[in-house]
Amino acid sequence: MRNLRVGVLVSHNGSNLRALHRSSLEPGARFEIAVVIGNNSEAAGLAYARANRIPTRHLSGATHPDPDALDDAIRAALVEHATEWVVTAGYMKKLGPRTRRQFDSRILNIHPAPLPRFGGIGMFGLRVHEAVLASGVGVTGPTVHLVDGDYDTGRVIAQREVPVLADDTAQTLAARVLEAEHVVLPLVVRQIAAGRRP
Ligand code: GRF
Repeated sequence: MRNLRVGVLVSHNGSNLRALHRSSLEPGARFEIAVVIGNNSEAAGLAYARANRIPTRHLSGATHPDPDALDDAIRAALVEHATEWVVTAGYMKKLGPRTRRQFDSRILNIHPAPLPRFGGIGMFGLRVHEAVLASGVGVTGPTVHLVDGDYDTGRVIAQREVPVLADDTAQTLAARVLEAEHVVLPLVVRQIAAGRRP
């Protein structure tokens, strides 16, 4: 059986991309990274992809000032690489309507906290973990969800629990949650590649 082709969008670090790529190389994974698209030409995720001979594209407001043209370019790059599923992994931008339509119900995002409680516009980076700590919940953890037209509102596919410790700071919590992201995201993609439709 041929591999499921997954396109990944990144903005900065790309640790989830690396986890996905490592997982794709394990026996029985049945998926491969078809293309990595970054909106930031300096993204470590793009550098990682280039170093691993994965096709890359830098597509952003700098390369395409018109949002519709950018949306078209992202859609076209994904299609050109025969992408079947899309993962936004630390991608700080919203995907445009044409890309969303092309990959309807086949776009996953990873968010570093339970949704919908700790999501929405402005909830990214350490702010998410600060909100978790301020709420006093005892358990947090990453969420994998389908992407729709809004921030963090699509159907939840998987969540993983990470306990909040008494001496946690937003930084220590973020680091533990990120480790859990590196487990749950590849797991979901492996399951989809194995034929389980979320
Ligand atoms: C992760 O915490 C993810 O949940 C959020 O952005 C961060 C990206 O990390 N959407 P990385 O770029 O994959 O290292």
